Formats: sequence, C-alpha cells, structure tokens
Amino acid sequence: MSEAASASQAAGHFAGRRVLALETSCDETAAAVVDDGHVVVSSVVSSQVDLHARYGGVVPEVASRAHTELIVPVVTEALAGAGLDPHGGGERPIEAVAATVGPGLVGALLVGVSAAKSYAMGWGVPFIGVNHLEGHLYASLLEDPDLAYPVVVLLVSGGHTLLVRMDGPGRYEVVGRTKDDAAGEAFDKVARYLGLGYPGGPAIDRAAEKGDPAAVSFPRAKLPGSFDFSFSGLKTAVVNYVRAHPEISSEDVAASFQRAVTDALLEKTLEAAAATGAVGICLAGGVAANSELRRRAAEEGEAAGLSVFLPSRAMCTDNAAMIASAGFFRLRAKGPTALDAGAEPGLGFREPGSTLGAARAS
Ligand code: KG4
Ligand code: ZN
Repeated sequence: MSEAASASQAAGHFAGRRVLALETSCDETAAAVVDDGHVVVSSVVSSQVDLHARYGGVVPEVASRAHTELIVPVVTEALAGAGLDPHGGGERPIEAVAATVGPGLVGALLVGVSAAKSYAMGWGVPFIGVNHLEGHLYASLLEDPDLAYPVVVLLVSGGHTLLVRMDGPGRYEVVGRTKDDAAGEAFDKVARYLGLGYPGGPAIDRAAEKGDPAAVSFPRAKLPGSFDFSFSGLKTAVVNYVRAHPEISSEDVAASFQRAVTDALLEKTLEAAAATGAVGICLAGGVAANSELRRRAAEEGEAAGLSVFLPSRAMCTDNAAMIASAGFFRLRAKGPTALDAGAEPGLGFREPGSTLGAARAS
C-alpha cells in the first residue's frame, strides 16, 4: 500500500471518503483513487498518443476501441495501487465511483461512463457524473490542499480556453472564454501546418526553445472590456506569414507564435485577477504544460503580488485524479448522479455567475 493510503487509513477516513474515478473523454484512458478530494492514492494514465500520431489527430473510432480494451486493466491497476481488489467482497471499499460525462468524444465517454456505473452498481455505491472542465480546475487543489482563495484559474486545453474565478471547491464563475479556437487547438493547427508533428503543443514548445520569439510580431487580439480571447486570427496570420516568407525557420515561427499566445493568455489572466480581487492564479489543462507559459506565469504573477500555482505537467494534462477530486466535492454539494444519465459530448461549462451565485445565495 502506498504511503498516502496508509496515512489516510491512519487518519481514520479510509473507505468513507475514497473515490474511484475514470476518465475517457479523449485519447487517455485513466483511473485514479483519491481520498478526501485531494489525497491521490493511485493514478494511472494510459495514453493512446502513439495510436493516433500516424493520423495527425485523434480518430474517434480508434479512441473508443482502445478505451474498451484498456479500461479494465487501467482500473484494476489503479485499484491495486490503492490496495483494493476489484473482485474482493466484504465492506464497500470506496464511497463512490466518478466518471467524466462530457465534454468529449461520445464513443470514448460512453466507455468510461458505462464502466463506472458497472463498478458503482457492483459495489452498491453512488455514481457521480463529472464535467471534464470542472475536473481540470481541481489540479491545483490536488497538489496544494492549502490553496488560498479566491484564485483565477486559466484553463487552457485542446478544446477549451476559459478564465474561471474560483472561491473554493464547487464555487466558481466563468469570467472569460475564447470566442473561437481554443489555445490548444491553435497550437495543434499551427504545429500541423509547420509539419512539426502531433501532438502539436509539445512539438511547438520544443521547437520554440531554438527559435527567436521576436522574429515575427504576430497579432494579439485585444477584445477590450472583456476577459475573452480569440486565436483564429493568429492562426491565419501564421499561415499567411509563412506563405509570404517561405525562408523563415519553423523554430522562429513556433517561438513567435508561442510568444503571441502566452502574451494574450497572461495579459487577460492578470487583468482578471486584479479585477476580481483574486489572491492568486492557477494554470490548468494541457496547454498549462507549456514551458513559456509556466515560466512567465510564475514571473509575471509574482511581480503582480499574486501567489502562483503551477500544477505538475502530469496533473495539467488529462488524468482521472482531477475527476475524482471534482466528483468528491460534487457528491457533497449535489448528491449522486442518476444511473440513467448518459454521456454528454457537448457539455459546456456553466454560464457566468450561476454556480457562484447559487453558492452565495444558499
Ligand atoms: O487538457 P488536455 O490534455 O486535453 C483536453 O482536454 O483537450 O489538453 C490537450 C492540449 C492539446 O491541444 C495539446 O497540444 C496541448 O494541450 N499541450 C500543449 C503542451 N502539452 C500539451 N500545448 C502547449 N505546450 C505544451 N507543452
Ligand atoms: Zn482535458
């Protein structure tokens, strides 16, 4: 048994406050066991990146099939890491089983949702459906349970770019979002255009290290009076520039593009923190693994007098520990999810004000 698991047992909250979570929204098959919403007892992530690389992007049917093959071994490994036997009898080994219900690829989501419901029914414990984006917000809390609130979380993933003010677990308000492409999508499209490979974010990150960020001054969409973003113009500007200057190195383009994206992300994050009275900023989502974004968030956030939390790269990209954490708090705030609830591929994030407003009113 891991140190975390023994510590949790010694503290007397074994079984009662333990959540198993499954995450299969895209191309990672993941399972984790988390105590008390923040103690990661075990976390297993099986990436399908090599399967999809030859196609230059995630192929939904390939993803669903791989999830179907991997889900039981991945869950079994996560349970074993927590000292649990999926076939063992006796007392209920966990409090609840959570799964990502959306947003994501419908076939992929269904694998995790169906498996989670089966485990929940087998053990006679509640099922909790979790919004994937909500899960990403918990990355910082999982690694720093003493996080001081309110914080502004910059949630930058392959499909979404949001600025969320978080007042505590389950209490958040969306203050800004992208009007078009997500930041990760822009990284992926530009990388594909430059022939840097898949997945695009890490490829641009690596290429940018060897390039000059001042080589090209790409446009930064300002969207004044809001904390919103826009990245589709930047992507088009990159394509137009490279067509007109075929001699430019992809390293210089990658570095200049990355500088433009990080400028836009950090400017709005710091403005939102100042405007909402946040004491800190957190990064979340796959793009939060970006080296320049991390370095500059730390430097510029601290210079602005904010505490800055950068979850580890493994916690930024898709994993099930964040789903377990979100599920733990959701169960307490809203109770279990009905077993007839399905996958919700187009699930959005709550509209501004709704969650925080409700929490304040109650
Ligand atoms: O959160 P995530 O793992 O999955 C989604 O929920 O979308 O985010 C994936 C995105 C992809 O667009 C990927 O290219 C990007 O995160 N990404 C990065 C880096 N690592 C992953 N983008 C920039 N720099 C990175 N180092
Ligand atoms: Zn994600």
